Parts: sequence; C-alpha cells; structure tokens
Amino acid sequence: MPGSKPESGARQTQNQASDPSRIKRVRPHARLEAAERRPSDPKPSQRPNSHQAGAAAVCLADFEPLAKKRLSHFAYEYISSGAADELTIRWNREAFDQIRLRPKVLVDVEKIDTRVTLFGQEMPHPILLAPTARHRLSHPEGEVATARGASDAGATFVVASLSTRRLQDIAPAAKSPLWFQLYDLRKERREFVRGVVKEAEQFGCRAFIVTVDAPVDGARNRVQRVAEQLPPGMETPYYQKANAGAGVVLPIMGSMGSFTWEAVEWLLSVTRLPVVLKGIMNPDDADQAVRTGAAGIIVSNHGGRCLDTLPASINALEPVVQKVAGRVPVLVDGGIRRGTDVLKALALGAKAVLIGRPYLYGLAVNGAEGVAKVVNILREEFQMAMALTGRPDIRSIDRSVLWE
Ligand code: FNR
Repeated sequence: MPGSKPESGARQTQNQASDPSRIKRVRPHARLEAAERRPSDPKPSQRPNSHQAGAAAVCLADFEPLAKKRLSHFAYEYISSGAADELTIRWNREAFDQIRLRPKVLVDVEKIDTRVTLFGQEMPHPILLAPTARHRLSHPEGEVATARGASDAGATFVVASLSTRRLQDIAPAAKSPLWFQLYDLRKERREFVRGVVKEAEQFGCRAFIVTVDAPVDGARNRVQRVAEQLPPGMETPYYQKANAGAGVVLPIMGSMGSFTWEAVEWLLSVTRLPVVLKGIMNPDDADQAVRTGAAGIIVSNHGGRCLDTLPASINALEPVVQKVAGRVPVLVDGGIRRGTDVLKALALGAKAVLIGRPYLYGLAVNGAEGVAKVVNILREEFQMAMALTGRPDIRSIDRSVLWE
C-alpha cells in the first residue's frame, strides 16, 4: 500500500503477528518473505526445495498445483475432492465471484485494523483454520506443523477429531489458542468423548466446534475411484482407538445417524467452553441451535464434501444471520480464496471466516511455513480490500460495501 513504512525484519514481523494489539500496515509480499523466517532457520539459499516451491506462490490458488506435485495421488484426491458431481464446490467459488464491491474513496486508510473478538478471545484478524482430517497425509509432522504455522500467522487453528497427532504434541507448538472439533456424540461414544473433552480443556482449547452436517458420508466418488487407501500409521486418536492403518477402506466415518439435538445438550452439560455448531445452512436450524445453547454458528456445506447441490455457503449466510439476529456470532467457510472473499463474508454478516483446502496445500508445499504463508497472503489481501473500499476497520464493513 502506498505510504506504508518498510518493516525491519523477521523478528519484528513475528512479534507483530503474535501481538493482536498492533495495527498492521500493508506491505504486500515483502513482509510475507520475512514472516516465513525464524531466526534459527537456515538461510533461504540452504533451504530444501519445498521452500523454493512455496516461494513461487503469490496467491492461494498457486498452492494447489504445487501441493499436487508433492502429495500422493490418494492424498490429493482426498483433499481436493468433494461429493458426487462437485457442483457445490464449484458454486462455493462462483457465488463469491458474482458478488461485486462498491468502493468508497478518500477515506483515511493509512492504518488498517483487522482485529476481532470471538468468545472473549481477541484475534489479530478474522481468518481461522477450519477443522480438517489427517494432516499427516500432507506433511510428516501433521497437525503439529499446522499449529506452528497458524500461530506464526496469528490464526486460531481448529484441531479436528480426525487429527493424526495428539494435543500433547500440538498444544506446545501453538502460540495462538486452539479450538477442538467433535463429530460423533452418540450415546454409545460419550464415555470416550468425555475423555476427549477433558483432554482438550486440559491443553487449553478455548472452544468446541460440533460438526452437524455429516451424519453419514457423502458420495465421495473421486476418492472411491482411487485404488490406494489410507497409508499405514494414520492413527486418529480422538476418533478411533484402533489403528486406522493400511487396509482401512473409506468411507471415513460411517453412519452416525442417531446423533441429534439431545447430544448437543449433553455436550453443553459436560463443558463450560463455548460450543459452536458447524454445518448449518438452514435458518430454522440456526434458530434451534441458539435456543439449545450454542455459543456460535458456522454456516458451512463442509466444503462441498457431504451433500452435493447444497447452495454456496456464502449464499446461505445472510438468511442465517437474519434469523440469529445478533444473539450469537455467525461464521462461514467454503470457497474462501481471496481477501475480497473475506470482505464479502463480513459484509454479509459473518464475524469471521475459516479456510480448509488452501492451508492443507500450504502444509503439503512447505509445512508450517506454508500454512503461515497461506494465512498471511489472505490477510494481506483482506487488508488491501479494506483499504481499497475505504473500510479502515472491521466495524466499518457492512452491506454498503457490496455493489447492488
Ligand atoms: C474437511 N472438513 C472437515 N470438517 C469437519 O468439521 N471435520 C473434519 O474432519 C473435516 N475434514 C476435512 C478434510 C478435508 C481434506 C477437507 C478439505 C475438509 C471441512 C472443512 O472444515 C471446511 O468446512 C471446508 O474445507 C471449507 O471449504 P474450503 O475452504 O476447503 O473450500
């Protein structure tokens, strides 16, 4: 951004990333390079090829082809695919592309403040990492590398039930608070889940996300077509006790069809942490969620991985926001790839957004650094979009930023 002062180096940039009270100034790309470096890191010239690959990425879309080269065929298909004909995946993107922006000029945008507060937690920006399964498919360090990258970029990371690493390893790598996602709260699993809840609390997780849109698997045809299966050693300690290694055939979750609102009430009775329901598209469900005691809602179609032909989540957002009427924060995910998408989501009433596939590609390309770079690019684009539409802080983003 014109008028921004150059920053002096890696240390300063990292401190800023972890200090939400700093108001950040935009200086595209140069700062991203600095933000990737830790003082102990080897010099760029000594880094392995993965860094060079990651350095070529200038926007989120650039990470996918780079990741595809590094991932196994199975892993790439698993991450990138959706359900059935993948219409919902396509619509998630098309819907953002169709929304146009209305600029406001000659506003003082010298300082851009992206801070938000969610459930009492101040965050330097409104971009979170959505819960996604099996990070060791993308990188040998799995969720530990993700937590480190998320922290370096000031993002809250939602650890999935299908995590391939334990919280005792993930939590020390995280400087930003973690959240934890739960799937299956059926009665017969509650003893196990209660243990998971306690462990997540013990390791400092600040919220539980309950995913409610996947009582059965979607028709994941692309994954079905791959002859390979999950590689050995992909334990998911918070989901299956047994080793989910070689020979375990997808579908991934099987049926948990008897999971109902009563299960949400049970979870609320065993934790004091905020419980957020993820996967709500229907405003009536959103209303029931609030009445049941949910502290927040994530409008999501699971990145198009469950029920194909659901509408784009950005199109489902506003009716949910209207029904919820400010009682709890509403978040959204699905197809967010540009800073302008973040701006549009906030304009339509979201308090924050989550990304899924882009950070998994970053993880595959360059581990923790790749994750941080994905978030930093998205955040910088968001700051540019705010500046270019004359919105210097989050409060100033409302529907009038949309061209309609
Ligand atoms: C997911 N998602 C997901 N959601 C969830 O609640 N629990 C999970 O275990 C997973 N696992 C998972 C694996 C992979 C490989 C992907 C790509 C996604 C869905 C995720 O949280 C999020 O809703 C979407 O990824 C958002 O869409 P985008 O950003 O990927 O378009």
